[in-house]
This record gives sequence, C-alpha cells and structure tokens, in this order.
Amino acid sequence: MKTVFITGATSGIGFQLAKDYLKAGEKVVACGRNPQALAELTRFSETSPEMIETLCFDLTDCQATQQMVDSMQSKPDVWIFNAGDCEYIEKGELDSQLIRRVFEVNVMGLVHAIEAAQTRFVRGSHLVIVGSISSELALPRAEAYGASKSAVSYLARTLQQTLKPKGIQVTVVYPGFVRTPLTEKNTFAMPLMVDVDEASRAIRKGIEKGSAYLYFPTRFTLILRLIALLPYRWQNALTAKLTQD
Ligand SMILES: NC(=O)c1ccc[n+]([C@@H]2O[C@H](COP(=O)([O-])OP(=O)(O)OC[C@H]3O[C@@H](n4cnc5c(N)ncnc54)[C@H](OP(=O)(O)O)[C@@H]3O)[C@@H](O)[C@H]2O)c1
Repeated sequence: MKTVFITGATSGIGFQLAKDYLKAGEKVVACGRNPQALAELTRFSETSPEMIETLCFDLTDCQATQQMVDSMQSKPDVWIFNAGDCEYIEKGELDSQLIRRVFEVNVMGLVHAIEAAQTRFVRGSHLVIVGSISSELALPRAEAYGASKSAVSYLARTLQQTLKPKGIQVTVVYPGFVRTPLTEKNTFAMPLMVDVDEASRAIRKGIEKGSAYLYFPTRFTLILRLIALLPYRWQNALTAKLTQD
C-alpha cells in the first residue's frame, strides 16, 4: 500500500484521482479548500476511515499551507501537485489583477506546497506536477494561464534535475482538455476532450510506470507538440486557424 498526497483533490481530476486511489486500496491525503468535497471523500472511504486524511487550506496562503502540511500525520510516497485555476484574457487586454490571481494559484500555490512538503521528501519519493499542454504553444486568450503553466513546466523540469541525485523522481503532466468544472465555463470548442476517469487512469498509469513526462489524450497533445516544433511564425498561423470562432 502506498500513500498519495493530492492537492486540488476536491474537484475535477484531483477528486477522481483521490476516489480511484481509495478504491485501489491506497491511502490518500486529500487537500483542497472545499470542506464539503473533502467530507464527501471521507464518506467515500467510510469502511476504512484510516485510509484518508483531509487537509483544508488555501494554497495561496503560504503560512496556512506550511501549518497544514506540518500537521499531516501520514507519510506520503507519491505527491501529486494538481491544484490549479484558469482565467482567460479577452482581446489581448491585459489585466494585472487576473494575471496575479492565476499566478498566485498555479505558480505560487505550487511553490508554497512544495516548500511546505520538501523536508518530508526522502529517497524514493515521487513528485507529480500537473502542468498543461497549453505551455507548449502560445494560444490566444491564454496569456495568463499558459504563461503560468509554462512557469510550472520550467520549475518541474528543473526539479527533475536537481532532485534526481537525492533519489527523488519528478513526473510532469501535460493534459489536453479534460471535462471538469475548470473547462465547464469555456465557450470555445475543446477538441478531443476526455472525461476525468480517463485523465485519472492516464496519470495513475504514468506514475506506476515512472514516466518522466505524461501527455494525454495522446492524439490531441501529439498534434500540439508537433505544431510546437515549427518556427514561431508558422505556429501562430496554425493556432490562429485552429482557434478562430
Ligand atoms: N481540465 C482541463 O482541461 C485541464 C487541462 C490541462 C491542465 N489542467 C490542470 O489540471 C489541474 C486540475 O484541474 P481541473 O480541471 O481538475 O480543475 P478543477 O475541477 O477546477 O479543480 C481545481 C482544484 O484545484 C483546487 N484549488 C484551486 N485554487 C486553490 C487554492 N487557492 N487553494 C487550494 N486549492 C485550490 C480546487 O480546490 P477547491 O475546489 O477546494 O477550491 C480544486 O480541487 C489544474 O492544475 C489544471 O490547470 C486541467
């Protein structure tokens, strides 16, 4: 049995991962802000309450994150840093408040969580950092979200190198579109979108295999990665075509 720590376990991909790991008999440390969703996970694990620990805190609050992680009783083997948020910029009109909000959760929230947890990392620990395929390609309206996920990708790939000598493995996850409350508000076409159970399956399988990088759904992320190999001018022409209303 392993113990899996999950941020953003109260909704979407993280919620599904928490349920699937509990179903598989693994212990879960579920983190999020929503107490009702954390209670739902505790009820889900009601026959074996010792298999779940819940931590309710806001990742943008550095001190609260440290306090909650310090209070944790469990000793996770796998750390899934999944929490994130998305807001879009309209017509290229930058909004510093919006960009700060997105970076506070996606970048600083991730940093707070890793900083709080890092003294608990040991040889054999496995960190899983959820980025986005949007970081591979400059996409219209993703000035805030895509830039934040590019920072996440860079941070994660750097940690892959710096933590390796300590025997700590880092997997970086680059999902395409997944049907969750985060994408529910999108009004544009989301090609080849998958359900959360498929996302959870892909992530759990990748963790099991020890993959360094995880891309899913395969076809959609492959198309974007191929476009990302082209010169920027061609990339822009293609993304303009693909994203026109
Ligand atoms: N869905 C997609 O198509 C897609 C594609 C690429 C990448 N991703 C990435 O996958 C991850 C999960 O996304 P999702 O689609 O499952 O989104 P979601 O359903 O909106 O869930 C987001 C999770 O993050 C948590 N969270 C957000 N802000 C937080 C904060 N300040 N403090 C603590 N927790 C916070 C939420 O907790 P509360 O609900 O408790 O506030 C929730 O559990 C994100 O990193 C996202 O960027 C998603």
